[in-house]
Amino acid sequence: MNIALKRTLPEKIRVLPGCELQGYETLFDESSYWIDPESIVGKIPSGLEGTLFLNCPGRNKVGDQQYGHWFDGDGMISAVTIKDGRVHYKNRYVRTPKYINETAEQKILYRGVGTQIPGGPLKNMFRAPGNAANTSVILHGGKLLALWEGGKPWELDPSTLETVGEYNYDGGLSSTQPFSAHPRVDPHSGDLYNFGVFGIPTPKLHFYKISADGTMMANTSQSVGNYSMCHDFAITQNYAIFILCPAFMRTPFRFLLGLRSIFESIEFDSSESTKVIVLELATAKIIKEYELDSFFGFHLGNAYENGEEISVDALCVDTMDIMGGLSDVFMERGDDFQFLANGSRFNRLTLNLKTGTARKSLIDGAVAGEFPTWNPRYTGHENRYSWLATIVENGTPYNFNAFQKVDHQTGQITIHDFGEGRFTSEPNFTPVDENSAEDEGYLMSIVYNHARKKSEVVIVDAKDMQHEVAVIPLNHHVPFGFHGYFYEETFL
Ligand SMILES: [Fe+2]
Repeated sequence: MNIALKRTLPEKIRVLPGCELQGYETLFDESSYWIDPESIVGKIPSGLEGTLFLNCPGRNKVGDQQYGHWFDGDGMISAVTIKDGRVHYKNRYVRTPKYINETAEQKILYRGVGTQIPGGPLKNMFRAPGNAANTSVILHGGKLLALWEGGKPWELDPSTLETVGEYNYDGGLSSTQPFSAHPRVDPHSGDLYNFGVFGIPTPKLHFYKISADGTMMANTSQSVGNYSMCHDFAITQNYAIFILCPAFMRTPFRFLLGLRSIFESIEFDSSESTKVIVLELATAKIIKEYELDSFFGFHLGNAYENGEEISVDALCVDTMDIMGGLSDVFMERGDDFQFLANGSRFNRLTLNLKTGTARKSLIDGAVAGEFPTWNPRYTGHENRYSWLATIVENGTPYNFNAFQKVDHQTGQITIHDFGEGRFTSEPNFTPVDENSAEDEGYLMSIVYNHARKKSEVVIVDAKDMQHEVAVIPLNHHVPFGFHGYFYEETFL
């Protein structure tokens, strides 16, 4: 265990409570500009060229009406382009019907996953949530797509970020099939796998295979009982792994009749098992199911096969209470929001395909975190390293304020602490080049810096975890977001 872990202990006096709040505030303006090279601290690595696309809920209110949950803000895409040692920033909202109509009327017109339309049940009855297109953005098969797990992808122009329209893979997705925000790409074939969970009265798991050129090759649907929530999954060379937490919508009428939002209607039942499903990629058939003591989690890390066993990494927490905490991130939380104590921790699940046994073990020394990432060359294959956004006690533990590197071989945990009042999100790993060692690369993210009241693009050395190779200041803040990727292509 690295000595840096000592900093996670609550030794330091907490300061600046609420200093992260502006990082959640709405950014209405859309802009496109070059960064002044003189303002960059450090140096853009030679050979690093490409585009970091990131998605975030860019606005958390419309008119004077506040959305009821962080997950309901309208999707805003950032494109950070690095070309010839220069950096360009651009942002634009996804023009979904929700965004266009609510902007026109300056009020909430659509239900969200944790937001109700003001005006009572009659305003909400039998209405499905509007697609906020706010969770991830991918470039695959020649398309740039904004993703939201309850609905279809939204296609964008990668050069201008202008919205092209809702995308269904030329009819490959049926009208009721959602497309999750966590596809996985086979690094060798370029094939993309994804899923969606939807169905009435009981949910179905819809599973998709899309070729590297963007053609829907397979689309299957099967029942998974009454498990209502699944945000992420993992692949190995031959299998897909889903973790179904005991979150059930046992009284759907409350949602259907407009009495409660989706999140208010889903109940976590810790007396039930968390189910792990293994699906064979070649046939899309479920070949194994495992039951474990209940836990909740949003995100999975990488997975791989090891003889008759499958290893899969997952962020796990005892309950689903975090969902309530995410509904009020726009409000003052003081210093009592105990991410450190209550956050998700990195576990490894080992599934034996022959015996049907499963075990779950906490990765020793892992600190509360989220947004796991790894070198994408190793997706589905044994990886030595994972990286996470995490929280350390640096005086301002009010949001993700550090990165965590896990060495699965030695057990060493290494922390990069962004320092007091600097808050990050998902680390996006990009390798130095195609021949570089697994951890030779850069972690790229947008960091909100309270001292500047603005954000900055930060490139961290993924190997030593100490150096901020470059800090690229932006002209404004960028609201905290969820997922994105760095691609070697540029589109200016
Ligand atoms: Fe996610």
